[in-house]
Amino acid sequence: MLYDDARGERPRLLVVANRLPVSAKRTGENSWSLEMSPGGLVSGLLGVTSQFDTKWVGWPGVDVYNEVEKNALTKSLAEMKCIPVFLNGVFDQYYNGYCNGILWPILHHMGLPQEDQQDTNQTFETQYDAYKKANRMFLDVIIQNYEEGDTVWCHDYHLMFLPQYLKEHNNKIKVGWFLHSPFPSSEVYKTLPSRSELLRAILTADLLGFHTYDFVRHFLSTCTRILGVEGTNEGVVYQGRVTRVAVFPIGIDPDRFIRTCKLPEVTQQMNELKERFAGKKVILGVDRLDMIKGIPQKYLAFEKFLEENPYWRDKVVLVQIAVPTRNDVPEYRKLKSQVHGLVGRINGRFGSVSSLPIHHLDCSVDFNYLCALYAIADVMLVTSLRDGMNLVSYEFVACQEAKKGVLVLSEFAGAGQSLGVGALLVNPWDVTEVSSAIKEALNMPAEERETRHKFNFQYVYTHSAKKWGSDFMSELNDTIAESELQIRN
Ligand code: G6P
Repeated sequence: MLYDDARGERPRLLVVANRLPVSAKRTGENSWSLEMSPGGLVSGLLGVTSQFDTKWVGWPGVDVYNEVEKNALTKSLAEMKCIPVFLNGVFDQYYNGYCNGILWPILHHMGLPQEDQQDTNQTFETQYDAYKKANRMFLDVIIQNYEEGDTVWCHDYHLMFLPQYLKEHNNKIKVGWFLHSPFPSSEVYKTLPSRSELLRAILTADLLGFHTYDFVRHFLSTCTRILGVEGTNEGVVYQGRVTRVAVFPIGIDPDRFIRTCKLPEVTQQMNELKERFAGKKVILGVDRLDMIKGIPQKYLAFEKFLEENPYWRDKVVLVQIAVPTRNDVPEYRKLKSQVHGLVGRINGRFGSVSSLPIHHLDCSVDFNYLCALYAIADVMLVTSLRDGMNLVSYEFVACQEAKKGVLVLSEFAGAGQSLGVGALLVNPWDVTEVSSAIKEALNMPAEERETRHKFNFQYVYTHSAKKWGSDFMSELNDTIAESELQIRN
Protein backbone atom coordinates (compact mmCIF):
# COMPACT_ATOMS: atom_id res chain seq x y z
CA MET A 1 0.00 0.00 0.00
CA LEU A 2 1.35 3.39 -0.91
CA TYR A 3 -0.20 5.50 1.77
CA ASP A 4 -2.70 5.38 4.58
CA ASP A 5 -5.88 6.97 3.18
CA ALA A 6 -7.55 6.98 6.58
CA ARG A 7 -4.84 9.21 8.05
CA GLY A 8 -4.62 11.22 4.86
CA GLU A 9 -0.88 10.77 4.80
CA ARG A 10 0.92 10.98 1.53
CA PRO A 11 4.39 9.50 1.10
CA ARG A 12 7.16 12.08 0.85
CA LEU A 13 8.90 12.14 -2.47
CA LEU A 14 11.82 14.09 -3.84
CA VAL A 15 11.57 14.10 -7.63
CA VAL A 16 14.97 14.94 -9.06
CA ALA A 17 15.26 15.83 -12.74
CA ASN A 18 17.58 18.09 -14.68
CA ARG A 19 14.76 20.52 -15.33
CA LEU A 20 12.21 21.89 -12.89
CA PRO A 21 8.64 21.89 -14.24
CA VAL A 22 8.99 25.66 -14.54
CA SER A 23 11.91 27.51 -16.10
CA ALA A 24 12.86 31.01 -14.97
CA LYS A 25 13.50 33.83 -17.42
CA ARG A 26 15.15 37.02 -16.21
CA THR A 27 12.83 39.99 -16.73
CA GLY A 28 14.94 42.58 -14.89
CA GLU A 29 17.21 42.96 -11.90
CA ASN A 30 16.05 40.47 -9.31
CA SER A 31 12.85 39.73 -11.19
CA TRP A 32 11.82 36.57 -13.05
CA SER A 33 9.01 35.14 -15.06
CA LEU A 34 8.32 31.44 -14.61
CA GLU A 35 7.18 29.41 -17.62
CA MET A 36 6.25 25.75 -17.95
CA SER A 37 9.25 23.71 -19.16
CA PRO A 38 9.07 21.77 -22.43
CA GLY A 39 9.26 18.01 -22.95
CA GLY A 40 7.56 14.74 -22.14
CA LEU A 41 9.32 14.27 -18.81
CA VAL A 42 7.72 17.38 -17.33
CA SER A 43 4.26 16.70 -18.74
CA GLY A 44 4.36 13.08 -17.52
CA LEU A 45 5.56 13.94 -14.05
CA LEU A 46 3.03 16.72 -13.55
CA GLY A 47 0.34 14.04 -13.65
CA VAL A 48 2.01 12.17 -10.80
CA THR A 49 2.95 14.63 -8.17
CA SER A 50 -0.49 15.14 -6.57
CA GLN A 51 -0.45 11.60 -5.12
CA PHE A 52 2.65 12.27 -3.08
CA ASP A 53 3.94 14.95 -0.80
CA THR A 54 6.31 15.97 -3.54
CA LYS A 55 9.18 18.39 -3.80
CA TRP A 56 10.89 18.80 -7.14
CA VAL A 57 14.67 19.32 -7.30
CA GLY A 58 16.19 20.61 -10.55
CA TRP A 59 17.88 23.29 -12.60
CA PRO A 60 15.80 26.48 -12.75
CA GLY A 61 16.67 27.33 -16.36
CA VAL A 62 19.16 30.13 -15.64
CA ASP A 63 22.59 30.68 -14.09
CA VAL A 64 22.40 33.03 -11.13
CA TYR A 65 25.59 34.22 -9.41
CA ASN A 66 24.38 36.98 -7.12
CA GLU A 67 23.33 35.67 -3.65
CA VAL A 68 20.45 38.13 -3.25
CA GLU A 69 19.02 37.05 -6.60
CA LYS A 70 19.54 33.38 -5.80
CA ASN A 71 17.57 33.77 -2.58
CA ALA A 72 14.75 35.63 -4.31
CA LEU A 73 14.40 33.00 -7.03
CA THR A 74 14.65 30.16 -4.50
CA LYS A 75 11.80 31.77 -2.54
CA SER A 76 9.47 32.10 -5.54
CA LEU A 77 10.21 28.53 -6.60
CA ALA A 78 9.52 27.25 -3.07
CA GLU A 79 5.91 28.41 -3.46
CA MET A 80 5.65 25.85 -6.25
CA LYS A 81 7.41 23.16 -4.19
CA CYS A 82 10.48 23.46 -6.40
CA ILE A 83 14.06 23.51 -5.13
CA PRO A 84 16.68 24.92 -7.52
CA VAL A 85 20.10 23.47 -8.24
CA PHE A 86 22.24 26.30 -9.59
CA LEU A 87 24.67 24.75 -12.04
CA ASN A 88 26.88 27.82 -12.32
CA GLY A 89 30.18 27.14 -14.01
CA VAL A 90 29.41 23.60 -15.19
CA PHE A 91 26.15 23.98 -17.08
CA ASP A 92 27.51 24.38 -20.60
CA GLN A 93 29.86 21.40 -20.52
CA TYR A 94 27.42 19.27 -18.52
CA TYR A 95 24.18 19.99 -20.40
CA ASN A 96 25.14 21.08 -23.93
CA GLY A 97 28.30 18.99 -23.89
CA TYR A 98 27.98 15.66 -22.14
CA CYS A 99 24.19 15.24 -21.78
CA ASN A 100 23.01 16.47 -25.15
CA GLY A 101 26.15 16.26 -27.28
CA ILE A 102 27.20 12.75 -26.16
CA LEU A 103 24.62 10.79 -24.17
CA TRP A 104 21.48 11.86 -26.05
CA PRO A 105 22.76 10.80 -29.52
CA ILE A 106 24.09 7.50 -28.13
CA LEU A 107 20.80 6.69 -26.40
CA HIS A 108 18.97 7.37 -29.68
CA HIS A 109 21.30 5.32 -31.91
CA MET A 110 22.79 8.41 -33.52
CA GLY A 111 26.42 7.74 -32.64
CA LEU A 112 29.09 9.89 -31.03
CA PRO A 113 30.09 13.18 -32.64
CA GLN A 114 33.69 13.46 -33.77
CA GLU A 115 35.76 15.23 -31.12
CA ASP A 116 36.88 17.91 -33.63
CA GLN A 117 33.26 18.75 -34.44
CA GLN A 118 32.80 19.98 -30.92
CA ASP A 119 33.52 23.32 -29.38
CA THR A 120 37.31 23.68 -29.31
CA ASN A 121 37.68 24.24 -25.57
CA GLN A 122 35.48 21.25 -24.71
CA THR A 123 36.78 17.71 -24.86
CA PHE A 124 35.09 14.49 -23.94
CA GLU A 125 37.02 14.50 -20.66
CA THR A 126 36.14 18.05 -19.62
CA GLN A 127 32.50 17.39 -20.41
CA TYR A 128 32.52 14.14 -18.46
CA ASP A 129 34.09 15.91 -15.46
CA ALA A 130 31.43 18.61 -15.64
CA TYR A 131 28.76 15.88 -15.76
CA LYS A 132 30.06 14.32 -12.56
CA LYS A 133 30.38 17.71 -10.88
CA ALA A 134 26.81 18.59 -11.84
CA ASN A 135 25.57 15.28 -10.38
CA ARG A 136 27.40 16.18 -7.14
CA MET A 137 25.72 19.59 -7.12
CA PHE A 138 22.34 17.81 -7.27
CA LEU A 139 23.48 15.57 -4.41
CA ASP A 140 24.40 18.59 -2.23
CA VAL A 141 20.96 20.15 -2.68
CA ILE A 142 19.21 16.83 -1.96
CA ILE A 143 21.21 16.35 1.24
CA GLN A 144 20.17 19.81 2.44
CA ASN A 145 16.51 18.97 1.88
CA TYR A 146 16.32 15.24 2.63
CA GLU A 147 14.34 14.01 5.63
CA GLU A 148 14.56 10.47 6.94
CA GLY A 149 12.14 8.18 5.12
CA ASP A 150 11.98 10.30 1.94
CA THR A 151 12.11 8.48 -1.37
CA VAL A 152 14.39 10.00 -3.98
CA TRP A 153 13.27 9.40 -7.54
CA CYS A 154 15.98 10.37 -10.05
CA HIS A 155 15.03 10.99 -13.66
CA ASP A 156 16.75 10.56 -16.94
CA TYR A 157 20.18 10.45 -18.52
CA HIS A 158 21.34 13.70 -16.92
CA LEU A 159 21.58 12.01 -13.53
CA MET A 160 23.22 8.64 -13.99
CA PHE A 161 25.76 9.17 -11.18
CA LEU A 162 23.23 10.45 -8.68
CA PRO A 163 22.04 7.03 -7.37
CA GLN A 164 25.66 6.09 -6.60
CA TYR A 165 26.41 9.41 -4.87
CA LEU A 166 23.21 9.14 -2.83
CA LYS A 167 23.96 5.58 -1.70
CA GLU A 168 27.57 6.46 -0.87
CA HIS A 169 26.26 9.30 1.27
CA ASN A 170 23.62 7.21 3.04
CA ASN A 171 22.95 3.64 2.04
CA LYS A 172 19.47 3.77 3.61
CA ILE A 173 18.08 6.35 1.19
CA LYS A 174 15.45 4.75 -1.06
CA VAL A 175 16.54 5.48 -4.61
CA GLY A 176 14.68 4.91 -7.88
CA TRP A 177 15.93 5.91 -11.33
CA PHE A 178 13.85 6.17 -14.48
CA LEU A 179 15.06 6.60 -18.03
CA HIS A 180 12.74 8.72 -20.19
CA SER A 181 14.68 8.07 -23.38
CA PRO A 182 15.29 4.72 -25.09
CA PHE A 183 18.13 2.50 -23.91
CA PRO A 184 20.22 1.56 -26.98
CA SER A 185 21.42 -1.76 -28.24
CA SER A 186 24.62 -2.88 -26.49
CA GLU A 187 26.48 -2.55 -29.82
CA VAL A 188 25.77 1.20 -29.78
CA TYR A 189 26.13 1.74 -26.03
CA LYS A 190 29.54 0.04 -26.14
CA THR A 191 31.00 2.98 -28.10
CA LEU A 192 30.59 5.31 -25.11
CA PRO A 193 34.05 5.86 -23.53
CA SER A 194 32.66 6.01 -19.95
CA ARG A 195 30.34 3.02 -20.51
CA SER A 196 31.22 0.87 -17.45
CA GLU A 197 31.34 3.63 -14.84
CA LEU A 198 27.91 4.90 -15.85
CA LEU A 199 26.35 1.44 -15.76
CA ARG A 200 27.85 0.71 -12.34
CA ALA A 201 26.55 4.05 -11.05
CA ILE A 202 22.91 3.43 -11.98
CA LEU A 203 23.05 -0.16 -10.75
CA THR A 204 23.39 1.17 -7.20
CA ALA A 205 19.73 2.32 -7.29
CA ASP A 206 17.06 0.09 -5.74
CA LEU A 207 14.83 0.14 -8.81
CA LEU A 208 15.50 1.03 -12.45
CA GLY A 209 12.58 1.81 -14.74
CA PHE A 210 12.26 1.95 -18.54
CA HIS A 211 9.34 2.69 -20.87
CA THR A 212 9.32 -0.54 -22.86
CA TYR A 213 10.30 -4.17 -22.64
CA ASP A 214 12.77 -3.66 -25.54
CA PHE A 215 14.68 -0.99 -23.62
CA VAL A 216 14.90 -3.31 -20.59
CA ARG A 217 16.15 -6.11 -22.83
CA HIS A 218 18.87 -3.82 -24.27
CA PHE A 219 19.85 -2.70 -20.79
CA LEU A 220 20.14 -6.24 -19.41
CA SER A 221 22.22 -7.51 -22.29
CA THR A 222 24.43 -4.40 -22.08
CA CYS A 223 25.10 -5.14 -18.38
CA THR A 224 26.00 -8.72 -19.26
CA ARG A 225 28.27 -7.80 -22.16
CA ILE A 226 30.05 -4.88 -20.54
CA LEU A 227 30.13 -5.77 -16.86
CA GLY A 228 29.80 -9.54 -17.18
CA VAL A 229 26.94 -9.48 -14.65
CA GLU A 230 23.88 -11.65 -14.83
CA GLY A 231 20.61 -10.13 -16.07
CA THR A 232 17.42 -11.97 -15.06
CA ASN A 233 13.70 -11.28 -15.26
CA GLU A 234 13.98 -9.74 -11.81
CA GLY A 235 16.87 -7.47 -12.63
CA VAL A 236 20.64 -7.46 -12.44
CA VAL A 237 22.68 -9.28 -9.82
CA TYR A 238 25.37 -6.77 -8.99
CA GLN A 239 27.75 -6.69 -6.03
CA GLY A 240 25.84 -9.34 -4.12
CA ARG A 241 22.40 -7.72 -4.46
CA VAL A 242 19.70 -7.65 -7.08
CA THR A 243 19.00 -4.28 -8.68
CA ARG A 244 15.38 -4.54 -9.75
CA VAL A 245 14.77 -3.57 -13.40
CA ALA A 246 11.22 -3.23 -14.76
CA VAL A 247 8.97 -1.72 -17.43
CA PHE A 248 6.79 1.28 -16.52
CA PRO A 249 5.24 2.91 -19.60
CA ILE A 250 4.58 6.57 -18.82
CA GLY A 251 1.24 8.24 -19.65
CA ILE A 252 -0.44 11.64 -19.45
CA ASP A 253 -3.18 13.18 -17.32
CA PRO A 254 -5.98 12.58 -19.90
CA ASP A 255 -8.65 14.44 -17.91
CA ARG A 256 -6.65 17.65 -18.08
CA PHE A 257 -6.81 17.52 -21.90
CA ILE A 258 -10.46 16.45 -22.03
CA ARG A 259 -11.45 19.25 -19.63
CA THR A 260 -9.48 21.84 -21.55
CA CYS A 261 -11.12 20.90 -24.86
CA LYS A 262 -14.49 21.73 -23.31
CA LEU A 263 -13.57 25.24 -22.16
CA PRO A 264 -15.52 27.98 -24.00
CA GLU A 265 -12.34 29.84 -24.99
CA VAL A 266 -10.86 26.64 -26.42
CA THR A 267 -14.06 25.87 -28.34
CA GLN A 268 -13.82 29.40 -29.71
CA GLN A 269 -10.20 28.78 -30.79
CA MET A 270 -11.27 25.54 -32.45
CA ASN A 271 -13.97 27.38 -34.42
CA GLU A 272 -11.46 29.98 -35.56
CA LEU A 273 -9.03 27.29 -36.67
CA LYS A 274 -11.78 25.40 -38.52
CA GLU A 275 -12.72 28.59 -40.31
CA ARG A 276 -9.09 29.35 -41.11
CA PHE A 277 -8.61 25.91 -42.68
CA ALA A 278 -12.12 25.55 -44.14
CA GLY A 279 -12.25 23.09 -47.04
CA LYS A 280 -8.90 21.54 -46.06
CA LYS A 281 -7.79 18.58 -44.02
CA VAL A 282 -5.29 19.40 -41.29
CA ILE A 283 -2.27 17.22 -40.61
CA LEU A 284 -0.59 18.18 -37.34
CA GLY A 285 2.96 17.73 -36.06
CA VAL A 286 4.08 18.82 -32.58
CA ASP A 287 7.70 18.17 -31.71
CA ARG A 288 10.71 19.73 -30.09
CA LEU A 289 13.06 20.60 -32.96
CA ASP A 290 15.30 17.63 -32.26
CA MET A 291 17.10 15.25 -34.63
CA ILE A 292 15.33 12.30 -33.04
CA LYS A 293 11.89 13.62 -34.03
CA GLY A 294 12.49 13.05 -37.75
CA ILE A 295 11.09 16.40 -38.93
CA PRO A 296 13.14 16.47 -42.18
CA GLN A 297 11.96 12.91 -42.91
CA LYS A 298 8.37 14.04 -42.24
CA TYR A 299 8.72 16.90 -44.72
CA LEU A 300 10.26 14.65 -47.36
CA ALA A 301 7.37 12.21 -47.00
CA PHE A 302 4.84 15.04 -47.22
CA GLU A 303 6.61 16.36 -50.33
CA LYS A 304 6.36 12.92 -51.92
CA PHE A 305 2.68 12.74 -50.99
CA LEU A 306 2.00 16.09 -52.70
CA GLU A 307 4.08 15.10 -55.70
CA GLU A 308 2.18 11.86 -56.21
CA ASN A 309 -1.30 13.09 -55.27
CA PRO A 310 -2.08 16.31 -57.16
CA TYR A 311 -5.73 15.98 -56.08
CA TRP A 312 -4.76 16.74 -52.50
CA ARG A 313 -2.47 19.74 -53.18
CA ASP A 314 -4.95 22.47 -52.31
CA LYS A 315 -6.97 20.34 -49.92
CA VAL A 316 -4.48 19.63 -47.16
CA VAL A 317 -2.14 21.57 -44.86
CA LEU A 318 0.59 20.33 -42.56
CA VAL A 319 0.81 22.45 -39.42
CA GLN A 320 4.09 21.76 -37.67
CA ILE A 321 4.84 23.22 -34.24
CA ALA A 322 8.64 22.95 -33.90
CA VAL A 323 9.43 23.90 -30.32
CA PRO A 324 12.95 25.40 -30.09
CA THR A 325 15.29 23.36 -27.94
CA ARG A 326 18.99 23.03 -27.02
CA ASN A 327 20.00 25.93 -29.26
CA ASP A 328 23.57 25.94 -27.99
CA VAL A 329 24.28 22.44 -29.29
CA PRO A 330 25.70 22.79 -32.85
CA GLU A 331 23.73 19.82 -34.25
CA TYR A 332 20.44 21.47 -33.29
CA ARG A 333 21.36 24.72 -35.05
CA LYS A 334 22.21 22.77 -38.24
CA LEU A 335 18.88 20.97 -38.03
CA LYS A 336 17.00 24.26 -37.87
CA SER A 337 18.48 25.52 -41.12
CA GLN A 338 17.98 22.15 -42.80
CA VAL A 339 14.31 22.15 -41.86
CA HIS A 340 13.82 25.77 -42.96
CA GLY A 341 15.37 24.88 -46.32
CA LEU A 342 12.90 22.03 -46.80
CA VAL A 343 9.88 24.15 -45.83
CA GLY A 344 10.96 26.81 -48.34
CA ARG A 345 11.41 24.26 -51.09
CA ILE A 346 8.08 22.46 -50.52
CA ASN A 347 6.06 25.65 -50.10
CA GLY A 348 7.80 27.06 -53.19
CA ARG A 349 6.95 23.95 -55.23
CA PHE A 350 3.38 23.38 -54.13
CA GLY A 351 2.15 26.67 -52.65
CA SER A 352 0.12 29.40 -54.28
CA VAL A 353 -0.57 33.04 -53.48
CA SER A 354 -3.57 32.01 -51.42
CA SER A 355 -2.33 28.82 -49.77
CA LEU A 356 0.80 27.19 -48.37
CA PRO A 357 1.05 23.45 -47.80
CA ILE A 358 3.30 23.70 -44.72
CA HIS A 359 2.73 26.04 -41.78
CA HIS A 360 5.98 25.70 -39.85
CA LEU A 361 6.17 27.49 -36.49
CA ASP A 362 9.49 27.93 -34.65
CA CYS A 363 7.83 28.33 -31.28
CA SER A 364 5.75 26.64 -28.64
CA VAL A 365 2.05 27.45 -28.27
CA ASP A 366 0.11 27.86 -25.05
CA PHE A 367 -1.66 24.87 -23.57
CA ASN A 368 -5.22 25.87 -24.53
CA TYR A 369 -4.26 26.58 -28.13
CA LEU A 370 -2.35 23.30 -28.30
CA CYS A 371 -5.48 21.43 -27.20
CA ALA A 372 -7.54 23.29 -29.83
CA LEU A 373 -5.03 22.25 -32.52
CA TYR A 374 -5.05 18.63 -31.36
CA ALA A 375 -8.86 18.64 -31.38
CA ILE A 376 -9.36 20.01 -34.91
CA ALA A 377 -6.60 17.99 -36.61
CA ASP A 378 -7.64 15.22 -38.99
CA VAL A 379 -4.31 13.43 -38.84
CA MET A 380 -1.45 13.53 -36.35
CA LEU A 381 1.93 12.75 -37.89
CA VAL A 382 4.64 11.46 -35.52
CA THR A 383 7.81 10.38 -37.34
CA SER A 384 10.37 10.04 -34.53
CA LEU A 385 13.49 8.17 -35.64
CA ARG A 386 13.75 6.89 -32.09
CA ASP A 387 11.84 8.16 -29.07
CA GLY A 388 11.42 7.11 -25.43
CA MET A 389 7.61 7.23 -25.43
CA ASN A 390 6.30 10.30 -27.34
CA LEU A 391 3.49 11.67 -25.22
CA VAL A 392 2.35 14.02 -27.99
CA SER A 393 0.63 11.03 -29.56
CA TYR A 394 -1.23 10.38 -26.27
CA GLU A 395 -2.22 14.05 -26.01
CA PHE A 396 -3.67 13.99 -29.53
CA VAL A 397 -5.76 10.90 -28.73
CA ALA A 398 -7.08 12.49 -25.52
CA CYS A 399 -8.29 15.57 -27.46
CA GLN A 400 -9.96 13.64 -30.30
CA GLU A 401 -13.14 12.46 -28.61
CA ALA A 402 -15.29 14.37 -31.07
CA LYS A 403 -13.32 14.11 -34.30
CA LYS A 404 -11.70 10.67 -34.10
CA GLY A 405 -8.76 11.61 -36.27
CA VAL A 406 -6.01 9.22 -37.33
CA LEU A 407 -2.65 8.84 -35.64
CA VAL A 408 0.24 8.04 -38.00
CA LEU A 409 2.95 6.88 -35.65
CA SER A 410 6.59 5.87 -35.95
CA GLU A 411 7.28 2.29 -34.96
CA PHE A 412 10.48 3.58 -33.33
CA ALA A 413 8.65 5.61 -30.66
CA GLY A 414 7.87 3.82 -27.39
CA ALA A 415 4.22 4.74 -28.06
CA GLY A 416 4.38 2.51 -31.15
CA GLN A 417 4.13 -0.43 -28.76
CA SER A 418 1.17 0.89 -26.79
CA LEU A 419 -0.87 2.64 -29.52
CA GLY A 420 0.21 0.38 -32.37
CA VAL A 421 -3.19 -1.27 -32.84
CA GLY A 422 -5.15 1.97 -33.21
CA ALA A 423 -2.50 3.94 -35.09
CA LEU A 424 -1.07 3.52 -38.58
CA LEU A 425 2.48 2.43 -37.77
CA VAL A 426 5.23 3.57 -40.12
CA ASN A 427 8.97 3.33 -40.61
CA PRO A 428 9.85 7.06 -40.66
CA TRP A 429 12.96 6.44 -42.78
CA ASP A 430 10.78 5.11 -45.59
CA VAL A 431 9.28 8.22 -47.22
CA THR A 432 7.19 6.11 -49.61
CA GLU A 433 5.61 4.25 -46.69
CA VAL A 434 4.89 7.46 -44.76
CA SER A 435 3.47 9.12 -47.86
CA SER A 436 1.11 6.15 -48.38
CA ALA A 437 0.09 6.25 -44.71
CA ILE A 438 -0.78 9.95 -45.05
CA LYS A 439 -3.03 9.06 -47.98
CA GLU A 440 -4.62 6.17 -46.12
CA ALA A 441 -5.23 8.36 -43.07
CA LEU A 442 -6.86 11.14 -45.12
CA ASN A 443 -9.13 8.66 -46.89
CA MET A 444 -9.97 6.46 -43.92
CA PRO A 445 -13.73 5.74 -43.53
CA ALA A 446 -15.40 7.12 -40.40
CA GLU A 447 -16.19 3.69 -39.03
CA GLU A 448 -12.57 2.55 -39.10
CA ARG A 449 -11.41 5.84 -37.56
CA GLU A 450 -13.88 5.34 -34.76
CA THR A 451 -12.71 1.80 -34.01
CA ARG A 452 -9.06 2.79 -34.02
CA HIS A 453 -9.69 5.85 -31.87
CA LYS A 454 -11.68 3.83 -29.34
CA PHE A 455 -8.81 1.45 -28.94
CA ASN A 456 -6.23 4.19 -28.42
CA PHE A 457 -8.45 6.26 -26.16
CA GLN A 458 -9.06 3.30 -23.90
CA TYR A 459 -5.31 2.73 -23.59
CA VAL A 460 -4.46 6.41 -22.98
CA TYR A 461 -7.21 6.71 -20.41
CA THR A 462 -6.25 3.64 -18.41
CA HIS A 463 -2.46 4.05 -18.61
CA SER A 464 -2.21 7.51 -17.12
CA ALA A 465 0.77 9.30 -15.60
CA LYS A 466 -0.84 8.76 -12.22
CA LYS A 467 -0.82 5.00 -12.74
CA TRP A 468 2.78 5.13 -13.97
CA GLY A 469 3.89 7.02 -10.85
CA SER A 470 2.05 4.82 -8.40
CA ASP A 471 3.19 1.61 -10.11
CA PHE A 472 6.81 2.76 -9.92
CA MET A 473 6.53 3.83 -6.29
CA SER A 474 4.75 0.60 -5.22
CA GLU A 475 7.40 -1.48 -6.91
CA LEU A 476 10.14 0.55 -5.24
CA ASN A 477 8.55 0.08 -1.82
CA ASP A 478 8.11 -3.66 -2.38
CA THR A 479 11.69 -4.02 -3.59
CA ILE A 480 13.02 -2.26 -0.49
CA ALA A 481 10.74 -4.24 1.85
CA GLU A 482 11.94 -7.49 0.26
CA SER A 483 15.61 -6.63 0.61
CA GLU A 484 15.12 -5.56 4.26
CA LEU A 485 13.47 -8.91 4.91
CA GLN A 486 16.39 -10.73 3.30
CA ILE A 487 18.87 -8.80 5.45
CA ARG A 488 16.91 -9.64 8.64
CA ASN A 489 16.79 -13.33 7.73
C1 G6P B 1 13.25 14.79 -23.27
C2 G6P B 1 14.12 14.34 -22.12
C3 G6P B 1 13.86 15.20 -20.89
C4 G6P B 1 13.99 16.67 -21.25
C5 G6P B 1 13.09 17.03 -22.42
C6 G6P B 1 13.26 18.48 -22.87
O1 G6P B 1 11.92 14.51 -23.01
O2 G6P B 1 13.90 12.98 -21.82
O3 G6P B 1 14.75 14.89 -19.86
O4 G6P B 1 13.69 17.50 -20.15
O5 G6P B 1 13.41 16.18 -23.51
O6 G6P B 1 14.59 18.74 -23.19
P1 G6P B 1 15.44 19.84 -22.45
O7 G6P B 1 16.86 19.58 -22.83
O8 G6P B 1 14.91 21.13 -22.95
O9 G6P B 1 15.21 19.67 -20.96
